[in-house]
Amino acid sequence: MSLRVAVAGTGFIGAVHAQAARAAGGTVVGVAASTPERGRAAAQRLGAERVFEDAAELVTADDVDVVHVCTPNHLHEELSRLALEAGKHVVCEKPLALDLAGARRLADVAAAAPGRTAVPFVYRYYPTVHEVRHRVAAGEAGAVHLVHGSYLQDWLLTPDDDNWRVDADLGGASRAFADIGSHWCDLAEFVTGHRVTRVSARTTTAVPERRRDPGRAAFARANGDDAVARRVTTEDAAIVQFETDGGALGSVVVSQISAGRKNRLWLEVDGAHEALVFDQEDAETLWRGRQDMATTIRRDPATLSPEAARLAILPAGHPQGYHDCFRLFVADVFAAIETGEAPDGLPTFADGVRAAQITEAVLASAREQRWVDVAAGEPAGVAS
Ligand SMILES: NC(=O)c1ccc[n+]([C@@H]2O[C@H](COP(=O)([O-])OP(=O)(O)OC[C@H]3O[C@@H](n4cnc5c(N)ncnc54)[C@H](O)[C@@H]3O)[C@@H](O)[C@H]2O)c1
Repeated sequence: MSLRVAVAGTGFIGAVHAQAARAAGGTVVGVAASTPERGRAAAQRLGAERVFEDAAELVTADDVDVVHVCTPNHLHEELSRLALEAGKHVVCEKPLALDLAGARRLADVAAAAPGRTAVPFVYRYYPTVHEVRHRVAAGEAGAVHLVHGSYLQDWLLTPDDDNWRVDADLGGASRAFADIGSHWCDLAEFVTGHRVTRVSARTTTAVPERRRDPGRAAFARANGDDAVARRVTTEDAAIVQFETDGGALGSVVVSQISAGRKNRLWLEVDGAHEALVFDQEDAETLWRGRQDMATTIRRDPATLSPEAARLAILPAGHPQGYHDCFRLFVADVFAAIETGEAPDGLPTFADGVRAAQITEAVLASAREQRWVDVAAGEPAGVAS
């Protein structure tokens, strides 16, 4: 029987989840939005069988196997906890909670519950990302010396640009880093196998006042007509240097105010033999640099490593994209539920806690203006 999926939160990413769940063979039995009216419109748009009055009803409903939590961040911990306690499998959007303590509480609930958990760090599902991981693990890139890059967007560039994410009560104390820097760090650790051990960070709130328009969807055009000005406490951008347990140094620039950049996640791994570059906006190829030449590696299932080829669902020259990543991710979640075995690389709540650890260390470093340890499994301690 096909898995019965329900989606709480039907904005940008809720719609992507619903489509991916259906593509992976699930049945979208219901949705819930911020109001029943919005839920009804979303159910029609997304082809869901029913509308739940509210998200709490959805996550505990008898006829639901898998709950997808796609609401604003402040609801993630509570909705996921209710779902896990009701015996559901849970796919919860990042961040798992508003802070590290909340993410840990949720992971503890998950550890005691029968359901499987997953967090959509979906950029892992580009075949070219798996190819970088394979080349590093197989020693083809050589020892990793440097890991660097950026994740740049521009949809919060001006004082007229607003969204619920800007409000710390709804989004969390970190905005740009928790929202998109977490994806970059997840990828950096995923492809290198290294763990970030220490960070030195600076953050900036370059737009200190915004005209309030929290209903504005992510990436939509600004419409500040009736908006009221408010102070902003969350960061627009962060620059982070780091060290890893594998002896590498790294740096990343994370920004939601970089004009003209829409979703530029760019990651370079410099190894002793070769450098590899993944660019999310050009994900069909990897750049490979060697001292004597630079070439590209195509997303061609015929030539990729088996781990990467598993995710190459279209022939070369027929571009795969963001929706495909989500579809592959949800298919892996369903496989984990059905077989009891997690496919290689499936991001779980442990990865969500990891993201929260790094975020907390970045905020502490920026606040205290010093290097901060990111202790594996422990609260970030301050290093001198
Ligand atoms: N993994 C990824 O690549 C990725 C990408 C985008 C967003 N996200 C995450 O997804 C989440 C949602 O982001 P978005 O961009 O879709 O936001 P959005 O504003 O487009 O959508 C949020 C939705 O939540 C609904 N909502 C608000 N309050 C609710 C409530 N009490 N009960 C039920 N629904 C409620 C709203 O009606 C809206 O449909 C965020 O946590 C974000 O971090 C992840």
